[in-house]
Amino acid sequence: MSDRISGPPSMDKLVSLCQRRGIIFPSSEIYGGLSGCWDYGPVGVELKRNIKQAWWDAIVRERDDMVGLDTSILMNPRTWEASGHVTEFSDPLVECKNCHLRFRADHLKENRCPSCGGELTEPMQFNLMFKTYAGPVESAANIVYLRPETAQGMFVNFPNVVTTTRRRLPFGIAQQGKAFRNEITTGNFIFRSREFEQMEIEYFVKPGTDAEWFEHWLQTRLDWYIRYGIRKENLEVYEHPREKLSHYARRVCDIMYRFPQGFDELEGVANRTDFDLTQHQKFSGKSMEYYDSETNEHYIPYVIEPSSGVDRCVLAFLCDAYDEEPDKDEIRTVLHFHPDIAPVKVAVLPLSKKENLNNCARDVYKKISTSINAQYDDTQSIGRRYRRQDEIGTPYCVTVDFQSLEDNMVTIRERDSMAQIRVPIATVAEVLVKKLAGEDFAVLPEGGIPVTVK
Ligand code: GAP
Repeated sequence: MSDRISGPPSMDKLVSLCQRRGIIFPSSEIYGGLSGCWDYGPVGVELKRNIKQAWWDAIVRERDDMVGLDTSILMNPRTWEASGHVTEFSDPLVECKNCHLRFRADHLKENRCPSCGGELTEPMQFNLMFKTYAGPVESAANIVYLRPETAQGMFVNFPNVVTTTRRRLPFGIAQQGKAFRNEITTGNFIFRSREFEQMEIEYFVKPGTDAEWFEHWLQTRLDWYIRYGIRKENLEVYEHPREKLSHYARRVCDIMYRFPQGFDELEGVANRTDFDLTQHQKFSGKSMEYYDSETNEHYIPYVIEPSSGVDRCVLAFLCDAYDEEPDKDEIRTVLHFHPDIAPVKVAVLPLSKKENLNNCARDVYKKISTSINAQYDDTQSIGRRYRRQDEIGTPYCVTVDFQSLEDNMVTIRERDSMAQIRVPIATVAEVLVKKLAGEDFAVLPEGGIPVTVK
């Protein structure tokens, strides 16, 4: 792999690539879009699913102390009274007395309107939860909220999970899903939106062991980003000062990523003590206690909560993978995704549209696509098709040429080095599976031959 560009690409370049290659579009674009809402295109949806799968595999499937849940977005509104969201989940809002634009006070550098320079009102607290009504009657009794975090669905199910899985502490619950916040200002592409996805963990521990488990989760989450290709130098940990923590939080660290706008929050890791379970016990009247059979005690566990944003992960993986490399007289834009994260793993490219070549290439595609997410592309010149695959980060291209019809071999080209090897069609799928799992690209399978690139 060549030397990578230092620092993140500009947001403009990323947005343009995402639009051009079907990664992310503005929501309802034909109507002018909707601020803070985004659509994932054919390539973006694969990228997002791969990130979520990599998280799910590492957090739920590879661990025997974690279980998953998928809880509803709409919940009994008492949930949000208990959690403190109804009274506390707000940001300070100011309005310009002249042009009436509204801003988040703590995001302003000066005490004047950034748009017209007008005088601003005193800040007032603006609740970020979206409200709607459940059922056909629009009355106060029917108000429900779109969940602003997935966490509460896990807390309220704590007794259900303990009873049905017979889990003993320490153990955790994980959930992925949509969350909604009526952010006063959105921006930086998908970084701050009004509809987004979270990947959250609530890890329940015996009080007294919480500090140790906090360290474990902070390190585990940092390792996860690095495992899937985020460069270490683009990650930082920000420790929230003790005096600024909410009354219930014992420690909070943000995992920060070097986004185009600078280092900003990618994930929060919090020691939330027994606050949430205690609140739900108080508001529901149902016991949230855990019976510790080893010590014969009843207590409410403490919780460590690593909470990550899927869309911020998508942005971070895009930034970290992005590169522009000189290639002959041109610049090659390439996304160096980890193979597990890459939206398309293999592209099958017949050298020409001639019927006999297409038939052979279709057969190759069929062989590969049963086990690998592959794309078939027979449009435009081969050079352009390589560029297109580089731009969406496809690790391998398989080229079918006229010689393939004679020797039953195809060429595999690797994205990062652009090196090529020629392998028998009979083994191509098997070889690609191995290469995608990390086997050295340059090692030929039996019957393969090296290719010199002119
Ligand atoms: N349950 C804890 C919780 O929700 P948070 O720090 O408010 O904590 C967790 O949110 C993560 O969710 C953030 O680190 C970020 O990745 C993501 N997130 C929060 N608000 C977001 C928004 N408006 N747009 C996109 N992602 C957001």
